[in-house]
Amino acid sequence: MEYKIVNARLLYKESFLEGEILIKDGKTHRVSKNIQENLPKIDAEGKLLLPGLIDPHAHLRDSLLSYKEDFDTGTSAALAGGYTLLLDMPNTKPQIDSPERIKKRIEEAKGKINCDVGFYSLAFPNSDFSSLFKAGAIAIKIYLHKRFRDEEWSYENLRKVMKELSKFKRVLAFHAEELDPPFELDKYDVFLHSSFHDERAEIRAVKKIIDLAKDYDLPIHFCHISTPQALEEIYYTKLKGLNLTLELTPHHLLLDDSYFKLGNIALVEPPLRALEDVMELRKALYEGKVDMIGSDHAPHTIDEKLEEKPLPGFPNLEISFSLLNTLTDKFDVINLIKLMSINVARRFGLKKVGAIEEGYKANLFLFDPKEEWRIDPLRFLSKAKYSPFQGFLVRGKVKKTLLRGNIVYEDGVILKRGLGEVII
Ligand code: NCD
Ligand code: ZN
Ligand code: ZN
Ligand code: ZN
Repeated sequence: MEYKIVNARLLYKESFLEGEILIKDGKTHRVSKNIQENLPKIDAEGKLLLPGLIDPHAHLRDSLLSYKEDFDTGTSAALAGGYTLLLDMPNTKPQIDSPERIKKRIEEAKGKINCDVGFYSLAFPNSDFSSLFKAGAIAIKIYLHKRFRDEEWSYENLRKVMKELSKFKRVLAFHAEELDPPFELDKYDVFLHSSFHDERAEIRAVKKIIDLAKDYDLPIHFCHISTPQALEEIYYTKLKGLNLTLELTPHHLLLDDSYFKLGNIALVEPPLRALEDVMELRKALYEGKVDMIGSDHAPHTIDEKLEEKPLPGFPNLEISFSLLNTLTDKFDVINLIKLMSINVARRFGLKKVGAIEEGYKANLFLFDPKEEWRIDPLRFLSKAKYSPFQGFLVRGKVKKTLLRGNIVYEDGVILKRGLGEVII
């Protein structure tokens, strides 16, 4: 398979080039103003050709949670949003917490994923990380506010994990909330629940992790940071030389807590914050203090959202890039690609992805930066067809997505299924 894409504005070496790209054997073979060879061609019609997005944080569910989302629908949603690689979170059913479970999940995913996927594993104080990585785990996740077995995240146990993990160059990611009172989330109503998740829960957790991380040499990543205080804490510690990164989500950047007017649809963990916090997160984003954007695509059924004890989270994969592109003019597409592709690849050690470069995988998407459209969750390819962003007018639309040179998505339709590979 050899062809060229012509008439594209392609992102190449950190600037836009009006040019052409030759794709061969699933890779970007050459980038140039003009490809001489007489080959089949695709006309990009002057649109932006960008490296496929990489999501450091998605919940594909599947297995016993297939009724919420499965490999096919989740990765279809990804392609519709311009993503070609997702890192899947381990809070599945059954949960991903052992070499056997990792192997089984990888087996189950094969042939069913429409984009590439890497799988997280949970950690426990006694985890054997060497066999987890051998089995194919891409990174490790700890939820400080939940128990998956009988683990307790005392200083001592966290030290144990950090010490073990510092032998590997793999990321330890945290859901950084320490709830007060901890582990008593069964007796809540929505408001009580969100007060458990107040700012202090996040700030306290971040400080605890930083305090410990000073003694170990390993890459630590903070998922879905929602408070400016935690963000500043991480940013200034990073300046002092600690190996930290942080991720923000589209919802914490675009929605403030007045969206609770939507009811449980807007319930998410960490919860939406006050407008002034949202504005400060944006400011930090513009100032370059943020490493990446994660979708935290967290689908549930609409019934689960409307129950008396509603579940937190909502689907985001299809709209994240357009939402961010709409958020600001201060911020160009080049910066967005750093936050949603290059930086993620670099942090998680993902090879030959994150940029349009000779020899890199031809994981690409074609984006019309001007097209305006209204978010209609009923059109989502995700099984979860609701969104707190329903009705938002956004600018910029994903037109086509390419996976290793194959056009797998075009104008709302998945053209080829099952071509995704598991990244280990
Ligand atoms: C996530 C989920 O549903 O799995 N929900 C959420 O509100 N973010 C869990 C998580 O990311 O903490
Ligand atoms: Zn989380
Ligand atoms: Zn909660
Ligand atoms: Zn999540």
